[in-house]
Amino acid sequence: MRTDTGQIIHLADYRPTDFVLERVDLTFELDPTATRVESRLIFHRRDGVDAGLPLVLDGDDLSMTELRLDQIELPASQFDARADQLIIRDLPQSAPFEVTVVTVLNPEANTQLMGLYRTNGVYCTQCEAEGFRRITYFPDRPDVLAPYTVTIIADKATNPVLLSNGNFLGGGNYDEGRHFAAWFDPFPKPSYLFALVAGDLGVVEDSFTTQSGRDVALKIYVEHGKEPRAAYAMDALKRSMKWDEERFGREYDLDIFMIVAVSDFNMGAMENKGLNVFNDKYVLADPETATDQDYANIEAIIAHEYFHNWTGNRITCRDWFQLCLKEGLTVYRDHEFSADMRSRAVKRIAEVRHLKAEQFPEDAGPLAHPVRPTTYREINNFYTTTVYEKGSEVTRMIATLLGRDGFKKGMDLYFERHDGEAATVEDFVRCFADVSGRDLSQFSRWYHQAGTPLVTASGDYDAARQIFTLSLQQMVPATPGQPVKEAMHIPLSFALILDNGTTAEPSAVDGGEVTGDVLHLTERAQTFTFSGIASRPVLSLNRGFSAPINLEFKQTPADLVHIARHDTDQFSRWQALTDLALPNLLQAARDIRSGKEISCDPAFISALLEAAADESLEPAFRAQALALPSESDMARELGGNNDPDAIHAARHGIIERIAKAGRPVFETLLSQMRIEGPFTPDADGAGKRALRNSALSYLSYVEGGAARATDAFNTADNMTDMVQALTILAHRFPDATETAEALSAFLQRFEENPLVLDKWFAIQATIPGRDALARVKALLQDARYVASNPNRVRSLVGAFAFSNPTGFNRADGEGYRFLAEQILMIDPRNPQLAARILTSMRSWRSLESVRADQARTVLAEIQRHSGLSTDVRDIVERMLTA
Ligand code: TRP
Ligand code: ZN
Repeated sequence: MRTDTGQIIHLADYRPTDFVLERVDLTFELDPTATRVESRLIFHRRDGVDAGLPLVLDGDDLSMTELRLDQIELPASQFDARADQLIIRDLPQSAPFEVTVVTVLNPEANTQLMGLYRTNGVYCTQCEAEGFRRITYFPDRPDVLAPYTVTIIADKATNPVLLSNGNFLGGGNYDEGRHFAAWFDPFPKPSYLFALVAGDLGVVEDSFTTQSGRDVALKIYVEHGKEPRAAYAMDALKRSMKWDEERFGREYDLDIFMIVAVSDFNMGAMENKGLNVFNDKYVLADPETATDQDYANIEAIIAHEYFHNWTGNRITCRDWFQLCLKEGLTVYRDHEFSADMRSRAVKRIAEVRHLKAEQFPEDAGPLAHPVRPTTYREINNFYTTTVYEKGSEVTRMIATLLGRDGFKKGMDLYFERHDGEAATVEDFVRCFADVSGRDLSQFSRWYHQAGTPLVTASGDYDAARQIFTLSLQQMVPATPGQPVKEAMHIPLSFALILDNGTTAEPSAVDGGEVTGDVLHLTERAQTFTFSGIASRPVLSLNRGFSAPINLEFKQTPADLVHIARHDTDQFSRWQALTDLALPNLLQAARDIRSGKEISCDPAFISALLEAAADESLEPAFRAQALALPSESDMARELGGNNDPDAIHAARHGIIERIAKAGRPVFETLLSQMRIEGPFTPDADGAGKRALRNSALSYLSYVEGGAARATDAFNTADNMTDMVQALTILAHRFPDATETAEALSAFLQRFEENPLVLDKWFAIQATIPGRDALARVKALLQDARYVASNPNRVRSLVGAFAFSNPTGFNRADGEGYRFLAEQILMIDPRNPQLAARILTSMRSWRSLESVRADQARTVLAEIQRHSGLSTDVRDIVERMLTA
């Protein structure tokens, strides 16, 4: 039964609760289909709250069997119980009182994976954002904080492991073959951070000594037999703990820190206090089954969830509008961690690639919303790349404005001021304003105005006066609900690079604020002049991607080559190569549509090959340079009336030309980048593998490509190389017998490993072209396709819709119709997953009209369907109306 009403929630309506929650005491008697939950809550009425007001608790799909007030059964006249709400009247004026609620749950039937559910025989909870109300009636909002005591009673043989938040109090045997365990979490927390896990799990144990000398027990729980595959996660955890102490002075606070890996999970992982629950994809790894990307993801997500202990848990969010307060900040922290663990420049390139591929399209389409929204209908739909990734970029800009030390001081003040509280974005920003004396009010528009700002730049050099003039304009596009925008404060890192490759030091800069190498663009139009510039400089702008903007700056290929060769900022060197590539790719797409022969500027090809062969550059950087802008990057840059087939053909054609011209370079890389000795997942090795596989991929466009890829597949001694080779075979030679053989060999070898099977599905789901849909439909009938497992659904349906532009966007609309069928099938069992996959259509309006019409028709059909979840309804309606 659906109990969410789909009402719109407004930030402006926020007010504190009428009752203060003092303590929570929960007892779970676990049973697969009838779990009994007894919740005892101690409340008192907040000072000044009218004595007549009732206590209103949230519920979702609940059935209550007992209700007591101060241990006395409540008469029916004193309460109203609905599946989605419990109202209790005639409560004491000021004295504390205890409410006892007993609910009975069916974890086995919980397919939404919110609240208490079972995954592979393990009891598991997911409470963020509003899952706790599916366990018991509760003031289920993040500004209600209390210490929790939790007792778990369960059959001992099938559930030897009983876990909850906080420190272990004790346990022992109980009746009828059952046992119990009790946990106490002394740190007041909101209900979304509650967790319980019970089952028969293996464990990997370690310990960490904090900077103040306390010993913390570390435990990672996995399915039996998978313990060795948790070693890398454990290592990443210890490095995260140390890093947060060194960089931000943040020490862990409980006696124990636990991670549980489960195979059915809606998102990546969850930061429940002291008991993180992870999608096992982000825990389990070994060289035979995990790629370098998997290792990097594990490191980042382990760090992310661990860092939440301070940014999210010790200081939480006042309401869900403040989600970026914990997510944007914590993503920034995990980015910084990964940058310190690996190559900072390469990490930044990967971040910006991801931001542009995911967040920029969201910000440019019907689902655009501010980093700090002011309304929502379904909070699950606001765990977006805008809140996370743009939120992180906004935090990064604060660090740019204040400098590393200033930012650290602001963070220190934030922790000091708000520890134990539920805070707001304004509280956060105020800390940085207070430590720096800077007025951040204009800057705060980054939180409130949606849309990617467009900055237009033009430069002019006056040799006689030795002055370089830079004219800048900014424009923030209209977005749903925000037709008119104010000027933003945009920090632009810059360098003026002279002929000999050195950076000019101007004798003066006028026209606006400049701090270090950062220009502060604050007006709609602003002109900066740089004096004392002896020769014509090449301007490198928005270095390190200091601001998340679209930059329109007409630079000659020669100037871009100059930046690619000389900028001391590696990111900018990569950006320059990308800026060289793009016009070629876009022109090719236009030429294909008008039936013309495509061409490619030889200057671009030689600059690219020069970077690829430059041994002074790290291999990972060279691989990033060789990875051209993707088809979705091209679609975004083209901006509208897009034909995915033309885009694909254009990119294919350009790659072919690069491959032909660069064949000797790629042959050399293929042999040079061979790694001797056993696989290690370090960044150096990953970089070499990336460069080698990139060379292999280019070589697949010249004669003998399938043979090389087949050889690479057969000789691969790690999952990275194996997946790369298999992808080349499948995507470039889908009908070759070698491909069929490789796919079946891969399947045979890894059939028992679900995470590797996901890769097998995803590689096939993303084979470009018209046949993709038939292939995906056939795979859907495969016995190994498990519709109840979110990872599997994402690896087939998700991969097809998000990562197969030509296959999905068929002009006949069949791709969209297939997606609609799938969405309507997934929605009743898991609305969150259905809504997420449906966002793959968020850029439908920028398609050419035939496809756009097909997309509109299909979306309208979904919308007309009765019984949609709030999640899917919210997404489909926003996609259609904006
Ligand atoms: N807070 C989690 C994170 O970013 C995200 C998350 C995990 C989540 N599970 C969820 C959000 C379920 C919504 C619903 O680390
Ligand atoms: Zn998070």
